[in-house]
Amino acid sequence: MKKGLFITVEGADGCGKTTQLNLIAQYLRDMGADVLLTREPGGAQLGLELREILLHYDGFVSSKCESFLFFADRAQHVDTVIKPAIQQGKIVVCDRYTDSTVAYQGYGKGVDISQIQYLNNLATDSLLPDLTIVFDVDSEIAQQRVGAQKDRLESEGIDFHARVRNGYLQIAKSEPLRVKVVDANPPVDVVFESVKSIIDDFI
Ligand code: TYD
Repeated sequence: MKKGLFITVEGADGCGKTTQLNLIAQYLRDMGADVLLTREPGGAQLGLELREILLHYDGFVSSKCESFLFFADRAQHVDTVIKPAIQQGKIVVCDRYTDSTVAYQGYGKGVDISQIQYLNNLATDSLLPDLTIVFDVDSEIAQQRVGAQKDRLESEGIDFHARVRNGYLQIAKSEPLRVKVVDANPPVDVVFESVKSIIDDFI
């Protein structure tokens, strides 16, 4: 029986998600919630090794192989971290989840989206977030925010990141109740005002 809540935070690289995640966790803690902040890839112990491969392996990685590594990471993360925390009544706030694979490997790299959805369900026992916040930022601004030090996925070109951004907007369009889009172009405090109103409505 589910007791806690599950919130995911998504967006293309450079959308400012990490700053907002910390603000969200603090906001919920100030309300008295028991919050677990976690992330993908690498939210579980085994996933740290997968994260290293996913972000830094310097040989060729096929898009299918990459997808399966994300699913493997996710399956372990859901079983050993996310589900137990929800069952303990925590609010789990997760930096990236199933929508990242749809946006990056599906829209970004052309892996079949319905098969990604099938494998996401297999990896998670169909555990869906109660709320997903997508930070949407202009692709050129996002690239500037990422800077010069790029990991394997950040090093993909601007066209790839524009497809990822569009992927998120399509996901939000198809699931408007779960997925809320925030304009992440303005300064941090302005963006967080939008986030707070989404969380207040939700809670
Ligand atoms: P990370 O350093 O956590 O970046 P960010 O702060 O942008 O979340 O790196 C995660 C990278 O992995 C990011 O480029 C998005 C990518 N990714 C996928 O391509 N598919 C996925 O399913 C997930 C979870 C992440």
